[in-house]
Amino acid sequence: IPVDPFDFIIFGGTGDLSERKLLPSLYHRQRDHQFSEPTRIIGTSRSKMSDDEFRAFARKAIEDHVAAEYIDPAEVDEFLGRISYVAADAVSGDGFEDLKAAIGDSTCIRAFYLAVAPALFGDISRNLEAHGLITPASRIVLEKPLGRDLASARELNDLIGRNFRESQIFRIDHYLGKETVQNLMALRFANALYEPLWNSAHVDHVQITVAETVGLEDRVTYYDKAGALRDMVQNHLLQLLCLVAMEAPSSMDADAVRDEKLKVLRALKRINGNEAPKHTVRGQYRAGASAGGPVKGYVEELGKDSGTETFVAIRAEIENWRWANVPFYLRTGKRLATRVSEIVIEFKPIPHSIFGDGAGPIFANQLVIRLQPDEGVKQFIMIKDPGPGGMRLRQIPLDMSFAQSFKGRAPDAYERLIMDVVRGNQTLFMRRDEVEAAWSWIDPIQQAWENARQEVQGYTAGTWGPSASIALIERDGRTWHEST
Ligand code: BG6
Repeated sequence: IPVDPFDFIIFGGTGDLSERKLLPSLYHRQRDHQFSEPTRIIGTSRSKMSDDEFRAFARKAIEDHVAAEYIDPAEVDEFLGRISYVAADAVSGDGFEDLKAAIGDSTCIRAFYLAVAPALFGDISRNLEAHGLITPASRIVLEKPLGRDLASARELNDLIGRNFRESQIFRIDHYLGKETVQNLMALRFANALYEPLWNSAHVDHVQITVAETVGLEDRVTYYDKAGALRDMVQNHLLQLLCLVAMEAPSSMDADAVRDEKLKVLRALKRINGNEAPKHTVRGQYRAGASAGGPVKGYVEELGKDSGTETFVAIRAEIENWRWANVPFYLRTGKRLATRVSEIVIEFKPIPHSIFGDGAGPIFANQLVIRLQPDEGVKQFIMIKDPGPGGMRLRQIPLDMSFAQSFKGRAPDAYERLIMDVVRGNQTLFMRRDEVEAAWSWIDPIQQAWENARQEVQGYTAGTWGPSASIALIERDGRTWHEST
């Protein structure tokens, strides 16, 4: 369904996010006939550049990041025809009048996408206001990191809040744009099957794993200051936890969903200084092998000594009726054995076996929701091993692979999110209070680590993290689901 015409203004237009995600995603949306006329895209950054030079940048972004089968020269030309460029300095405000002139007196939806360092968010927002660029139909889009602790997140929210209303602010967590993450809501709330079991009476525990094989990539300065807890847990893993744990919202309205997620965040049990060593693990990769070849350790890659964690495991608890005494084990890390993100709901074991020892072990049912790669859902159940060999039991997955069931291109998370910005739908964006509640839970862990000097434990690149992560869950008589 086409959206209303819009002006899409990318701050950091010549940057990495614009090149890899924003321009290719916008191209796909045009190609899928979602644009109405006149829709325009304006790139901006400090560098002086002509419209044609920016168009050449956009053409290359499409050629490099859109699969060849979707590159249609006529579509590309039409897309480039929408594009212009204005040089503007976020801090001094130079160039904002040019931006104003470029947009003209259009009353279309106006999306300002801040693909720049967060240190510039306040300045850009202030200059947009000062130059009269903010209309009632304007929205501002912010990318993480949204602060590095509660205090800085509040400061950032205050700064933006001076010029934009909350209903105009779109805080991106790209995990919420992933198809399977939205499917999690469909699975829970479009089926009657699971919801009656979705509580402490029937669920033994939950595991959330976001494992990556990549290392530092090109984000040395940012990553070393952040670490995995801030980079991944504060946002992506907690968002996943919220979607698993929240009560059914009364509708898909943005605030109905976000109210429920907020309640989960507020019910997370604080992990304070004494508990941190027992409930959390920090790891850092050492040299090893990944993706078929030898790789350096984090410190060698960085080129200096560092105590930053590239792996975190946490035993979290949610203090409410639904989840009392159901641990949520979270883990994420770089340079792990394989790239996989999945959520495992492990149900309670059967109360009594009628089958006797000869039948073999009876495993608890597991629901495994695979977010990437190979998106799908597997429900592990016990069956009788076929054949005449007596009553022997076996665990098999009921396998629902989305990739096989739904042919066609899987759109990138950004495509969905950008169109939601244009539509003004905030359901998949984080509200201010959510971001702050997440930091309120993260801060004590970070502080406990710093105060107690809880050191990072080394793990060999290409493994599943430090052995302490295995011990964290095995102490409770449980094991990490083996992702294959
Ligand atoms: C980003 C993190 O938010 O998510 C990165 O900053 C991480 O460190 C990335 O690599 C993972 O995203 P995806 O979509 O590849 O799972």
